[in-house]
Amino acid sequence: MKIAVINFSGNVGKSTIARHLLLPRIEGAELIAVESLNADENQGQALRGRQFGELQEYLQTVDNVVVDIGASNVEDLLGLMHRYHGSHEDFDCFVVPTVPALKQQQDTIATLVELSGLGVPPSRLKLVFNMVEDDDDAARSFSQLLTFVGQQLLAEANLACKLGRNEIYGRVKGSGADLSALIQDKTDYKALIVKAQGTADKLALAQRLATRRLASGVIPELDACFAALGLNQSMA
Ligand SMILES: Nc1ncnc2c1ncn2[C@@H]1O[C@H](COP(=O)(O)OP(=O)(O)O)[C@@H](O)[C@H]1O
Ligand SMILES: [Mg+2]
Repeated sequence: MKIAVINFSGNVGKSTIARHLLLPRIEGAELIAVESLNADENQGQALRGRQFGELQEYLQTVDNVVVDIGASNVEDLLGLMHRYHGSHEDFDCFVVPTVPALKQQQDTIATLVELSGLGVPPSRLKLVFNMVEDDDDAARSFSQLLTFVGQQLLAEANLACKLGRNEIYGRVKGSGADLSALIQDKTDYKALIVKAQGTADKLALAQRLATRRLASGVIPELDACFAALGLNQSMA
């Protein structure tokens, strides 16, 4: 399974979704970040848009990969994909995260139009609705995008492919932490908190306990979102 996570917009959750939704659920997958600006730490190998030739070659040598395409590289990358005819076929699927803000919905529409123009069929072009607020009516928050997709049928828009806003992603950002590893941590933080001497130590332990609780709360949502993407079904 080779997946590209892409959107013209920054801050829609591409890196978060690549790392926490896709990477842990695709066996043996590695993460490649195509990021020149603001490269995140712990993002694996960094390739720039203009090193696309190398990326293409590399994609031929691996079976399972999640490629996180930084917003600053999307334009370059799409231009190169036009030039290397058929190169989009190196990916089984393009996952396009989106958020409710109108500007981001517009950028998402532009992203879908570009990918579709390259020849990516709707069955390989999947939206993930990110940062849905708890009490949001997702259909209403994303109405502009959903109306577009409903008319143009360029992509799969399944509202079950959604992730709520959750502070866990901010907490683990840059730490390289894997959420399922976090919940396997069996440390008895409450006992440690009782024993800890200073307030600072107690607070640090309390933070770790809170992070583990948040991770444990969010994993079922990530599992459900991943299942709804239907990546393991045939995407021909
Ligand atoms: N579902 C979410 N809930 C809360 N914060 C999120 C969520 N998704 C992403 N974020 C946060 O939003 C910011 C942008 O996400 P990021 O994955 O870096 O976006 P991109 O790679 O598209 O620029 C990060 O600080 C990230 O932790
Ligand atoms: Mg990113």
